[in-house]
Amino acid sequence: MTTYADVYKSWQDDPDAFWMKAAEAIDWDEKPSKALFDLGDHMYEWFADGRVNTCWNAVDRHVEQGRGSQVAIIHDSPITGTVRKITYAELRNRVATLAGALRAKGVEKGDRVIIYMPMVPEALEAMLACGRIGAIHSVVFGGFAAHELAVRIDDAQPKAIIAASCGLEPGRVVHYKPLLDGAIEQSSHKPEFCVIFQREQEVARLNEGRDVDWHAFQYGVEPAECVPVEGNHPCYILYTSGTTGQPKGVVRHTAGHLVALNWSMKNIYNVDPGEVFWAASDVGWVVGHSYICYAPLIHGNTTIVFEGKPVGTPDAGTFWRVIAEHDVKSFFTAPTAFRAVKRDDPKGEFVRKYDLSGLRAVYLAGERADPDTINWAADVLGKPIYDHWWQTETGWTIAGMPAGIEALPVKVGSPTVPMPGYDVQILDEAGHPMPPGELGAIAVKLPLPPGTLPTLWNAETRFRKSYLDHFPGYYETGDAGMIDEDGYLYIMARTDDVINVAGHRLSTGAMEEVLANHPDVAECAVIGVSDTLKGQSPVGFVCLTNGVNRPHEEITSECVAMVRDQIGPVAAFKQAVVVDRLPKTRSGKILRATMVKIADGDAFKMPATIDDPAILDEITEALKTLGYPKS
Ligand code: COA
Ligand code: AMP
Repeated sequence: MTTYADVYKSWQDDPDAFWMKAAEAIDWDEKPSKALFDLGDHMYEWFADGRVNTCWNAVDRHVEQGRGSQVAIIHDSPITGTVRKITYAELRNRVATLAGALRAKGVEKGDRVIIYMPMVPEALEAMLACGRIGAIHSVVFGGFAAHELAVRIDDAQPKAIIAASCGLEPGRVVHYKPLLDGAIEQSSHKPEFCVIFQREQEVARLNEGRDVDWHAFQYGVEPAECVPVEGNHPCYILYTSGTTGQPKGVVRHTAGHLVALNWSMKNIYNVDPGEVFWAASDVGWVVGHSYICYAPLIHGNTTIVFEGKPVGTPDAGTFWRVIAEHDVKSFFTAPTAFRAVKRDDPKGEFVRKYDLSGLRAVYLAGERADPDTINWAADVLGKPIYDHWWQTETGWTIAGMPAGIEALPVKVGSPTVPMPGYDVQILDEAGHPMPPGELGAIAVKLPLPPGTLPTLWNAETRFRKSYLDHFPGYYETGDAGMIDEDGYLYIMARTDDVINVAGHRLSTGAMEEVLANHPDVAECAVIGVSDTLKGQSPVGFVCLTNGVNRPHEEITSECVAMVRDQIGPVAAFKQAVVVDRLPKTRSGKILRATMVKIADGDAFKMPATIDDPAILDEITEALKTLGYPKS
């Protein structure tokens, strides 16, 4: 039997041979001469001199190999009460036509296309159509508002935007079109045209001269063939939160992405081609890119596009219904979703209504999986629950359970062990490796494996500063944690101002930038306090400009509205409070970590560098008015 240790060692012994072997599972137009290309100065690329097409590997080759009648995509929407299935052959035809229509409108290899769509198969088709002609897509999550979309338009400079008329949240239609129009009005860059996919729940008015209808613009066009691209040609850009309001454009190169994702499907998620795989996330996040769209399709699985929530659509049994009805073998979700289900159905009574015998395991990621949630899920489901840790930047698992190689013992609280390709180390502030069991910054020795980010879009300096400069020779993950004596990794906290709300990565810095724009706000801070459902939840503190004496509640509700309006509902920014001053170090750094401890009711040490300790009493009082600490 092959063990995880054997596989990891075979990678360590000869990384190039390891990845070249994995690359054999991909259909190449021209095979690469080697795996790793060292560009010097800690910059790397994978399979750069190969030529390959993502869409061919995710769609056409399966049809060629006789999987044409297999279902590729199941759209299951408890919100609209519909289930729709698309076979690989249908998917190929739909994507080829869409790609042909984009090409006919002038979209070429290297052009950027922004996709702003909800959880409908057309979102995946748009992504694949871009890949088919070598265009670079950038999907923007539907829960972001116009300003966030505008920032991404200006950075990616798309030739076209593909959007839906609306998204559907429980009890609410999300009007995408006004958000799209608002974003284009705000952005300096203007797309040449927009394609609007009209949903029956809301038909949007098209802007003459700019907008084309999804169906009409595809009518009578010549379908496009797959265009082979270089291995290092970007497949997509996905923006993620950094510490400022300017999101980071994570670049994903084509070939490494194909090889790594394909490898992960069997070795990590333990599914074979033809089986059903489900990631209950959103195409706007990296989980959606990798595990709703690309990996399952590249590997020849059936993927599920789920338009619903873990609870309330219609009940806490939705997940189990989908798993039973579609015979899902491997299920991926975020801990927060399980916390929501647990809250509504603590005894797991809904689980018993469904036949889950086909399900092998559940995979959790996106935020820390708290032991309570893992134990509850393992209890009610009677299946292994595997935590795994990764990031938008890596695109696939850094540390996880290699279930398709060997099911190692689960240690609750640990996402298990590093995957081949990742030499994970715990470093102290000076960059020295720490002994087992000791807490430090988590870093990965360079090079990162295939599929991970080679750089940030148009921002190499920021890439270096964010990830490479702090620990020379390593990639800085931004997470802190430790490795135990058995080599299991533990992720404890972020080392920056990024917070995680309901599995969504958000920047407190971005929220502070919005609050600072309120005319009455002189200074502000946003922190992430512990939340039993969402993991963390943002709370804002604002100091008012001298002379302002409007009611505080009026100002704080305006602040809440501004964040919702500019960042979007997904920020879940619902609480702000006015304070006289913010606690700072003598050098002026706001003591956010101490504020979090006060809000969470945790013991804290008075920071030695605090300027005025009395301010902490004011913060404590202000937090009490918001109901913190909770217990
Ligand atoms: N488009 C528009 N709005 C959206 C949206 C989208 N795609 N997704 C979320 N929102 C809105 C929600 O409607 C909500 O709006 P509200 O303030 O008017 O209620 C707001 O953004 C916050 O959303 P969320 O944080 O998701 O909270 P929720 O109360 O709606 O649901 C959970 C809570 C736990 C059920 C939900 O967060 C969930 O399913 N999480 C799973 C997370 C996940 O899959 N993460 C991906 C990483 S793996
Ligand atoms: P994102 O880029 O949105 O996927 O967010 C990545 C960040 O989410 C990581 O850097 C971690 O802070 C956190 N995260 C993701 N998965 C886990 C996990 N399994 N355990 C703990 N934190 C996680």
